[in-house]
This record gives sequence, structure tokens and C-alpha cells, in this order.
Amino acid sequence: MDKYDNYGELLSGVTALIEDDDDIISAMANTAAAIYNGVSGLNWVGFYRVKGDVLVLGPFQGKVACTRIARGRGVCGAALSAGESLLVPDVHAFPGHIACDSASNSEAVVPVRGCEGDIVAVLDIDSPILDRFAKTDLKFFESVAELFKKF
Ligand code: SME
Repeated sequence: MDKYDNYGELLSGVTALIEDDDDIISAMANTAAAIYNGVSGLNWVGFYRVKGDVLVLGPFQGKVACTRIARGRGVCGAALSAGESLLVPDVHAFPGHIACDSASNSEAVVPVRGCEGDIVAVLDIDSPILDRFAKTDLKFFESVAELFKKF
């Protein structure tokens, strides 16, 4: 059961945080904190920003993480290449998964598009629980990513 009875309350809070912010890094920082503290069963939440063919570590909550991921590598790089969200029920079964935190067992990665429609980052959410994320969870993460179209 998530810390919030439903994602509506958490999405309202994140929406207010982002609407009140004119800086994408600051908005990412508060978004990572809000998700990490508002959704149960997570061990890492954060953003990787697109810099050419490389994802560069952005604001996050959790253990220290790898700072660069090449397009196409890992779950994050695969989501960037595909231009779509990825739900990974068991990271150990995902070829090329990059284990920043050995506690991670499932993962969701969502592309974040900017005001011009191009992917400017990915939102990466890790859980120590196998198969932690359902479609309702993914829909929430995608709704959060949508809020970054203002930047
Ligand atoms: N697991 C990700 C790498 C980022 S760390 O989990 C924060 C991947 O395979 O792309």
C-alpha cells in the first residue's frame, strides 16, 4: 500500500511544487524527494539528464549512483533509445541492467519531455521489491513526467 491513499493526493502535491518553480533542476530535486518519501517500497528515485548521447546524473534520492549512462545502455539508456517507459519486474532478468544499488530488484524508467517535445531526461525509480510497479504506478510516474513539459 502506498504512503498516500491514492496517487491523486501525491500528484497534486508534486504539481504544486513544479508549477511554483521556474528552474528544472530545482523542480527535479523536489520531485525526487516527493516521490521517494511519498511512495512506499523504493530505494532510489532520480533523474538522468540527456546530454547528447549520454545520460548525466541529475537530482536524486538514495545511494550514490553512476554519473553517466550511454544511450542504449541499461534500463535508462534503453528507455531513452526507445522513447518510451520501461517497467522491469526483475532487474536481474534485464540484459545490461546497471546496478547502482545492489538492493534494487525492480525498476521503472519514464522519459521526461521538455516544452519542445524532445526527451530532456529520464525519471528512474528503483525498488528492492520484485515486480513492485503496476500500470497504476507507471501512470503516476508518467503523469509526473508530463509536468516537466513547462520547461
Ligand atoms: N539501473 C539503471 C541505472 C541507474 S541506477 O539504478 C540509479 C539502469 O540500468 O539504467
